[in-house]
Amino acid sequence: MPEGWVNVFDVQREAERKLDPGRLGYFSGGAGDELTARENVDAWRDWRLRPRQLTGVETVSTAVEVLGGPVAAPILVAPVAFQRALDPEGETAMARAAAAAGTVMCLSTLATARPTEVAAAAPGARRWFQLYPFSDAGISRALMAEAIEAGFEAVVLTVDAPPGGNREQDRRTGYAIPAEVEIPGIAAALGRGKPFSVTGVFDLLTASLTWDDLAGIAADAGVPLLVKGLLTAEDASLAVEHGAAGVVVSNHGGRQLDRSVATADALPEIVEAVGRRATVLVDGGIRRGVDVAIGVALGADAVLVGRPAIWGLTAGGSEGAEWVLRALAEELALTLSLLGVAGPRDLSHEHLRRALATRVYSV
Ligand code: FNR
Ligand code: LAC
Repeated sequence: MPEGWVNVFDVQREAERKLDPGRLGYFSGGAGDELTARENVDAWRDWRLRPRQLTGVETVSTAVEVLGGPVAAPILVAPVAFQRALDPEGETAMARAAAAAGTVMCLSTLATARPTEVAAAAPGARRWFQLYPFSDAGISRALMAEAIEAGFEAVVLTVDAPPGGNREQDRRTGYAIPAEVEIPGIAAALGRGKPFSVTGVFDLLTASLTWDDLAGIAADAGVPLLVKGLLTAEDASLAVEHGAAGVVVSNHGGRQLDRSVATADALPEIVEAVGRRATVLVDGGIRRGVDVAIGVALGADAVLVGRPAIWGLTAGGSEGAEWVLRALAEELALTLSLLGVAGPRDLSHEHLRRALATRVYSV
């Protein structure tokens, strides 16, 4: 299956060849001019490494603790909606991939498998649940309750949507998630059997949440709450002051507000603001093990990958997604070794300097 794959870009090419224009635009695309989506990738490349030699490090391990539990590498699976539109097993296949790679999968609110199914597909694995705030708080509570009952360890509240961004590729292709792709968790929480269109789902969500609502959600969750979709020190501090155990520095893969700051560029101010008292995760544009090393050296506890994991799922099902997670971890291990450190937690600013060149990477 991973015939001839060497890196994530090989998987991307194979996945993109398999997808029709509608799914390609939705799953790989971004908002507006897609500047932020591209810049997320490029911003990691604006750092250069300062390797240390003769450190005596013979063996390296990528294993770390994140939010009180172990992962084989600081590379987690980001929440991505509608995975059965890509693979018949959807999120259950992704859950097996994450479990095999020894990492955490974060399940989307807009998942095409119920939290209980995902738990059954990979018992014993670590899993988190991503929540979009519903206008009817009872639906949010019902969704969280099912997930927590099924062993999901944390709730990741995404705050950079709704509304959805200006997805021009979707407007050109007219893509809509096919009606047969159901969102059974929401249907169950609503007490209905029928699936919903993407727009239909967004209509159920609310953009009216404020920081004052956060403590209530944290109390309802009863497990650690992470706030996903922050790009400023101000908001990260507010999240922690209102009860969040951590934040995910994210611009939704450039799918929401185009021209938002790239996540690699937002990360340092957020680490400075809350890094000592909260878990700091980052996603967006991670395509190489060395991107992970740079994120961790800048102070992130771990990174998440969205598109790389779903390219793997598209191109090779569960094994394809697992291949991607393992390949990134192997690249990270080699990077650590060549930097002269024994593990991710030994990385620091001292291993980095800003590149001198003007950015020309993604044109
Ligand atoms: C997402 N993302 C996302 N985030 C979230 O909180 N809930 C969701 O349902 C989704 N759905 C979703 C669908 C698709 C197709 C993509 C590409 C992304 C955002 C995701 O969690 C993550 O922030 C980005 O994907 C990270 O950027 P990379 O790794 O894709 O560059
Ligand atoms: C997206 C939503 C579903 O990015 O999070 O498409």
